[in-house]
Amino acid sequence: MKERLVRQAIENRMKRLEVDEGIAVESYSGKGVPGEKNQPRVGAESTQWEKIPGVQKLALLLQGAKKLGIKTPFFTCHEGTAGANTLVGGKTLLNFSSYNYLGLSGHPEVNRAAKEAIESYGTSVSASRIVAGERPLHRQLEQALAELHGSEAALAFVSGHATSVTVIGHLFGPKDLVVHDALIHNSILEGIRLSGAKRLSFPHNDHAALDGILSDARRDYERVLVVVEGIYSMDGDFPNLPEFVAIKRKHHALLMVDEAHSIGVMGSRGLGIAEHFGMESSEVDLWNGTLSKALASCGGYVAGSAALIEYLKHSVPGFVYSVGMPPASCAAALKALEIMHQEPRRVTILRQRGRKFLEEARAAGIPTGSSAGMSVIPAITASSIRAARISQEMAEQGISVQPILYPAVSENSARLRFFISSDHTEKDIERTIDVLSRLWKRG
Ligand SMILES: Cc1ncc(COP(=O)(O)O)c(C=O)c1O
Repeated sequence: MKERLVRQAIENRMKRLEVDEGIAVESYSGKGVPGEKNQPRVGAESTQWEKIPGVQKLALLLQGAKKLGIKTPFFTCHEGTAGANTLVGGKTLLNFSSYNYLGLSGHPEVNRAAKEAIESYGTSVSASRIVAGERPLHRQLEQALAELHGSEAALAFVSGHATSVTVIGHLFGPKDLVVHDALIHNSILEGIRLSGAKRLSFPHNDHAALDGILSDARRDYERVLVVVEGIYSMDGDFPNLPEFVAIKRKHHALLMVDEAHSIGVMGSRGLGIAEHFGMESSEVDLWNGTLSKALASCGGYVAGSAALIEYLKHSVPGFVYSVGMPPASCAAALKALEIMHQEPRRVTILRQRGRKFLEEARAAGIPTGSSAGMSVIPAITASSIRAARISQEMAEQGISVQPILYPAVSENSARLRFFISSDHTEKDIERTIDVLSRLWKRG
């Protein structure tokens, strides 16, 4: 009862703030002439950060959580390497909060490679590669990433998020259309916004709906990009890629696949969604991914035709006007890739653990949505407060799992999100489902 009232109060106040936000934007018409009477009404609050509706919304959410006795689930300090286990507040927790899918972050050989790179090249390459030059590690990493995807070439950037933003922002413009899955990652949305292209979305994984949109709209645009993910990071499911390829061909569109969560996870060797479906890499026009998940590092990349990569290398702002990847990050990703290729059993074990988690969660009556049971498995609480509370109680029982709350997802999609690692044991999974189902039954 108390939870419902507090939630309602927060939602009402949020709605009012949204209206305020509308007014704030409207008053910024830019039509006023300095010194003239018709200047837009501007209050002193426009120079106070704490008056911004977004700042107020956050304060409101944090206050609401405090009233309900829920500690903020964000920015937890992990005091060591976050693998299958993690140290928080001096206590070892079983960890389902990190994307260390293949247990390679913290692997001694990966650590050693990063340290050796620092010894050889220092901690920074100190400028953009186009002006200050590259290191052998940049070339080796890009060669390895191109081979991973079976593409002609690849280009590595300092951030996975920034990779999508700058590449889409650069390649597309106002005469183009970008159509994406409704659950696509924020980095893609930001890239589309930057490009100025028209943006449309189709319902999650619904290739027939995409076909319909393109049948209606294709003729109005010069180039059309379709964007999907390998594995969706919130739901842990994946698209029927051959269907998407057939549709993009039919409508003369380009297809981009974000493999952030599918590299190291899908396919028997972890080569991603193309390996899973037995497809040729060239059936997709642009692959992109991140080095921060299975590949135990930091940074992003795109892979595709040699002509496209050469063009991006000389022109895409987030590469040309940004520093090259640090040597340690290059070396860590390269070594992680090498270990993944040498030890495909890591991929097999990860998927066995994922399947076990999914089956046992379902058997315990926990709603897991459309998860394929590979690397990401949600437990959908349909209430932010309940998700935050169960997450806190799980931590008290020695298990770290992150809640995903409104407004990151709609309130009826609020959830706990479990990331599986190949280093989780069968016992770890059994204990987790046991604790989760006990807390679940308590409501
Ligand atoms: C689908 C997807 N793409 C891109 C990114 C951005 O990658 P990074 O966190 O390495 O910047 C993420 C991050 O979680 C992601 O889930």
